[in-house]
Amino acid sequence: MLNWGIMSAGGIAYVFCNAMRFTDSGQILAVASRTPSRMERLVNDFGIPRRYTSYEALLEDEEIDAIYIATIHPLHAEWAIKGAEAGKHILVEKPISMNYAEAAAMVEAARENDVFLMEAFMYRCHPQVQRVVQLIQEGAIGDIQVVRATFGTRVGFNPQSRIYNHEMGGGGILDLGCYTASVVRLIAGAAEGKLFLHPTVIKATGKVGPTGVDHVAVATLKFENEVIADIVAAVEGNVGRGVSIYGSEGVISIPNPWLPSSPCRGAKEPLPLDTVFPSSTIIVQSHGSGESSEIEVPVDRDLFTYEADTVANYIDARQAPAMSWDDTLSNMRLLDTWREEVGVVH
Ligand SMILES: NC(=O)c1ccc[n+]([C@@H]2O[C@H](COP(=O)([O-])OP(=O)(O)OC[C@H]3O[C@@H](n4cnc5c(N)ncnc54)[C@H](OP(=O)(O)O)[C@@H]3O)[C@@H](O)[C@H]2O)c1
Repeated sequence: MLNWGIMSAGGIAYVFCNAMRFTDSGQILAVASRTPSRMERLVNDFGIPRRYTSYEALLEDEEIDAIYIATIHPLHAEWAIKGAEAGKHILVEKPISMNYAEAAAMVEAARENDVFLMEAFMYRCHPQVQRVVQLIQEGAIGDIQVVRATFGTRVGFNPQSRIYNHEMGGGGILDLGCYTASVVRLIAGAAEGKLFLHPTVIKATGKVGPTGVDHVAVATLKFENEVIADIVAAVEGNVGRGVSIYGSEGVISIPNPWLPSSPCRGAKEPLPLDTVFPSSTIIVQSHGSGESSEIEVPVDRDLFTYEADTVANYIDARQAPAMSWDDTLSNMRLLDTWREEVGVVH
């Protein structure tokens, strides 16, 4: 059983602590936070035995095996590298860093210090996405031609919030585009029996707001196997959330690609241990017959529990196929180009 240390006590840290209630692959031993009120809530709600008022102190706790870095993005690289140097295994929130160069330094630190490192793309740990990859590889919709992925949300403009503040790593490409970029690379790769492909062509545009970060951004990609993708990320408006994969014989749609089966997301208190987790649905439509069928993907835990279990299952391999180091580096390289095309510099 892994002893986890939680770094920061913000919104997603609460979700992760809640999800840890539904596994015995690990337990939360400590939390470190600079904010007393947030720390109190986490410690009290989840009965966390140790608390630290600095992130350094968490890394000095020799009984912690793995840390979950849930700070704002600009702090991910610094603390992942310090964590690796302290010999801790690392799960770090998405986007893994602000740019490719930071991500490369993090991977190097994990390699040098022989620790696990994974970017926390929870949706990649859920059985739904694994079923989609399987359908593609079985030829369920023939040759893959076009993939569309959107992730939009409406966050009221506040120049001080982490979503819109430049210094805090704001912008939709980093916050939500990282998901859409990762899924289309996954699907293009799945068509070739690979974990991912990197696009050979990237064209993009977007709307940049007064704080210098993107509010709405779109990119069109082409891969070496002629798969074309378009990806959308928006923090200013709900432009939809979904993934559609168009093949020569049919279409696969994922109505809830990013947050399936997660009562923990949005819960304001610890969930009861008898919580039932909702299955997710994939829709497969045939061009020929016009018929469509729904595939139910059963689950037995929360989305974020799958993520924590993925870390435990792959810890000895130091990286997990749900988001390998090369996959993360490809994603960050794509996000760098996307932001550059849109005119956002971090
Ligand atoms: N996988 C997902 O579904 C998901 C969902 C939401 C967010 N995320 C990712 O998780 C990370 C945190 O997002 P969140 O929504 O949890 O944000 P949040 O609620 O604002 O929490 C961010 C935390 O960052 C820490 N922090 C350290 N230095 C800071 C500074 N200078 N200003 C503000 N905060 C600072 C704070 O921790 P303390 O004060 O407690 O030390 C704060 O609690 C982001 O990288 C985001 O992309 C992932």
